[in-house]
Amino acid sequence: MKPVRVLFVCLGNICRSPLAEGVLRALAEQKGLAPALEVDSAGTGAWHIGDPPDSRSIKVALRHGIDISALSGRQVRLEDFRDFDLLLGMDENNVRTLKRQAPEGTAEKVHLFLRYASGLGQDVPDPYYDGPEAFEALYQMLEAGCSSLLERFGDRAS
Ligand code: 4NP
Repeated sequence: MKPVRVLFVCLGNICRSPLAEGVLRALAEQKGLAPALEVDSAGTGAWHIGDPPDSRSIKVALRHGIDISALSGRQVRLEDFRDFDLLLGMDENNVRTLKRQAPEGTAEKVHLFLRYASGLGQDVPDPYYDGPEAFEALYQMLEAGCSSLLERFGDRAS
């Protein structure tokens, strides 16, 4: 079967989406599902192109055994709507921006991450201006969402 190609999208591509990318990749490896999945992340904004993830996201990932320090920020590009099966926005704002940019016939690939993964119409809030405790909460939210996402893919494959 062809791998499912997932692009996580947030505003800056330094806090939420690179952490989601690391978490999904790690969970997929643990569950032996890595070959069934291609995962990447991007931001709707251009401020952090080429930057590593925020140090607080790197730290919380490391505490959970995941190294995201080598990831590099990039902005969403038009080809992403062709190259990925799913573009999962962390919040409704990201989803609105993506739907506005989506070339004809591709808007149905864009979803709110937690709605698609778990049926929850809930944002993954932007933690950029919050303290380090917000990053542990972010990690927990992303881990739960990514587990549900993998279960959904598993159901699709069976
Ligand atoms: P992210 O968080 O969207 O989760 O990466 C942010 C990072 C940077 C900015 C905003 C949100 N910024 O305005 O630079």
